[in-house]
Amino acid sequence: MSNYQPVPADRFTFGLWTVGWRGVNTFGDPVRPALDGADAVRRLADLGAHGITFHDDDLIPPGSSDTEREDILKRFRAALEETGLKVPMATTNLFSDPVFRDGGFTSNSRDVRRYAIRKVIRNIELAVSLGATTYVCWGGMDGAETEAGKNDHAALDRLREAFDILCGYVREQGYDLRFALEPKPNEPRGDILLPTVGHALAFINELEHPEMVGVNPEVGHEQMAGLNFAHGVAQALWAGKLFHIDLNGQRGIKYDQDLRFGAGDVKEAFFLVDLLESAGYDGPRHFDFKTPRTEDMDGVWESAAACMRNYLILKEKARAFRADPEVAEALAASRVPELSEPTLGEGESLSDLLDEGIDLAAVGERGYHFERLDQLAMEHLFGVR
Ligand code: GCO
Ligand code: MN
Ligand code: MN
Repeated sequence: MSNYQPVPADRFTFGLWTVGWRGVNTFGDPVRPALDGADAVRRLADLGAHGITFHDDDLIPPGSSDTEREDILKRFRAALEETGLKVPMATTNLFSDPVFRDGGFTSNSRDVRRYAIRKVIRNIELAVSLGATTYVCWGGMDGAETEAGKNDHAALDRLREAFDILCGYVREQGYDLRFALEPKPNEPRGDILLPTVGHALAFINELEHPEMVGVNPEVGHEQMAGLNFAHGVAQALWAGKLFHIDLNGQRGIKYDQDLRFGAGDVKEAFFLVDLLESAGYDGPRHFDFKTPRTEDMDGVWESAAACMRNYLILKEKARAFRADPEVAEALAASRVPELSEPTLGEGESLSDLLDEGIDLAAVGERGYHFERLDQLAMEHLFGVR
């Protein structure tokens, strides 16, 4: 049995804004001190993480002078070198500044849209210089509270235009960088554009370089929309579009809780880990969580360590579930392997199918025994098998 101690090969990564979250919310002031990027790097490396990610403004406070920027980056790079921690992904803050009150790439104001693209390009330069190969785009402010105020058709045109420009830039520069769109149904906007994984996948197909753009689904975001997260991730994998993933916890359809991974819907977390591991997903396991504001800084690091520990525990549970001979037998009884067989056999054509009969009464009586199979999974999860 493993001691669930993470190592860099597990590819666990954390946003600087996650462990650095000071607990500010709509009702409450900050409860924790600001966290320096270089300190976060050292602390995460000690915990066994593989990498750190950031928004431009998490690392370099807006309004910093060029010298201040250089100084911050020097200390950040030194901490990365000293610890071996990586920066596999970076992203842009296109939401905090008042100019983004109506969005970034889809603001009704053209000057804001142009500024948003400049802000992204500037941080792409930094991201690439730090070795990032994924660039996440979360358009949290790209949405609306009113219907009349936003022309969705035009907004989607502008969103496509922004990604066509950004992909063109990355190609021109010859960078090894792909974009990952992060869907979310609402918050901060009443309704956000590209609210779910499905919307994002459909949008990507309309781009000039769809091969450069994938998704970064977040557990809580799909669950806020009442959707099954593992199903969304499965479709992203099926489409070859799971470029990155935000792991956290959520309890039901409510505000974005960003709980530590494993908290909230434990069963879905189990099947998510089972899916990622069995599908051979080899990207970062990125935690986008927020430690509740009841906690001090010790609580933040306890919560961060628990995200990784919970993933490793679930990974072991999923492995044991798949290795259990009774599960193999239950899967067969549920006809799960049969779904992987093409509906038309090798060399068959539609006419073979048309000519065939079926005993509707007998087949209609067939039970699928999914309850037994699901119970076996839960017993593995409960730790009684
Ligand atoms: C949220 C989002 C953000 C994004 C991040 C990347 O909690 O609503 O997940 O945390 O992931 O801003 O741009
Ligand atoms: Mn979130
Ligand atoms: Mn996220």
